[in-house]
Amino acid sequence: MNRRKFLKIAGSTAIIVAAGGAGFALTRRPTEALRPWADAGSLYADPLRRALSYAILAPNPHNRQPWVIDLKSDTEAVLTCDLDRLLPATDPFSRQIVIGLGCFLELFSIAASDQGYQAHIRMFPEGEPNDRLDQRPIAHLSLEKKTGRPVDPLFAQTLNRHTNREPYDIKRAISDTIMTALKDAAADTVRVGTTNDGALLNDLRVLTKDALIAEIRTPEAFQESIDLMRIGRCEIEANPDGIYLGGAFLESLNLAGILTREKLADPTTKSFRIGLDMAEQSAMTSMGFFWINTPGNDRFAQIEAGRAYMRVALEATAHGLVMQPMSQALQEYDEMTPFYKTVHDKLTTQPDERVQMLARIGYAENKGPSPRWPLKTRLKDSQT
Ligand SMILES: Cc1cc2nc3c(=O)[nH]c(=O)nc-3n(C[C@H](O)[C@H](O)[C@H](O)COP(=O)(O)O)c2cc1C
Repeated sequence: MNRRKFLKIAGSTAIIVAAGGAGFALTRRPTEALRPWADAGSLYADPLRRALSYAILAPNPHNRQPWVIDLKSDTEAVLTCDLDRLLPATDPFSRQIVIGLGCFLELFSIAASDQGYQAHIRMFPEGEPNDRLDQRPIAHLSLEKKTGRPVDPLFAQTLNRHTNREPYDIKRAISDTIMTALKDAAADTVRVGTTNDGALLNDLRVLTKDALIAEIRTPEAFQESIDLMRIGRCEIEANPDGIYLGGAFLESLNLAGILTREKLADPTTKSFRIGLDMAEQSAMTSMGFFWINTPGNDRFAQIEAGRAYMRVALEATAHGLVMQPMSQALQEYDEMTPFYKTVHDKLTTQPDERVQMLARIGYAENKGPSPRWPLKTRLKDSQT
């Protein structure tokens, strides 16, 4: 959030004092909601739950964390999708939800390697879902001990990767060497594209900005985000998912009635206009983009795209970059049709090729992790 701009508009001494009050600030960290990051790898001795304690830290759309895990033994589990955690307005075919599950599976596999295990992942063991996800399993997971198996080097980045929605440093360009490393980080079931300068970088800045603004101006789509906003420590601790607006400053604005769900949703308010400005600032300070394309768009392709996003995101983190997926132009609802067409015209070469992920990258201060539900709450029927 743009602190200076908010303060200029809010203009109230009381708010400024409250926002800067050290005592208040000290109590605003949602400690429990962030605990899964500290617990990863240390809470469970068995290899399966240990690897799963990392997998729940995977990036996923709107931080819905739609994973449900049915433990079958210390080395075997079944992953299903919680159908109450879909995003019908912005993700009508649950394409992005499935990509998030792909991220989860890749992180599971990377974390297993840290203990000398190979993860075997059998996708859609009871058949592939169509346009609508259903109760059938997403994947069957098992672990096999492999003596001498090397740890995946990306494991070292699992706790450092975060989505960063801030403006990025426009004075720091990203080197071509790093862009090549990003391209090489994923399996060859997908095609990773990148840009870090020239006309394409500028076109993508403008395209992602315009698509994001169009989403904010589409009431049904934007309301889905508004409904999932968690403002302030109490809301975040009660529901450690969704869109996280934490910290003493934002919480003060909320208490002062400036930053509320109602005001953010209302196009006549200053809060709404600030939201638009911030969308513009973020998109226009992108110092590069990467995108992940698949041949076709079946559920297997979406899982592969998620697995690839996870790897490229960790590789980017290893190089000190931060990132933010900019998914609006890839979404399948009417208001996005012109953006969808432009992005596919620019970034694909084959008629059936699909852009599954598009993310901005750059350098910025690390803003830290976002909340997670603890692993035990994601286990089927409260297994522990
Ligand atoms: C398929 C997919 C689409 C996403 N789209 C967006 C997006 O359009 N804008 C955004 O800010 N974050 C997007 N994200 C990032 C998620 O919001 C983020 O992963 C989630 O809030 C958890 O935060 P973390 O990545 O910092 O752990 C997306 C993530 C995935 C996997």
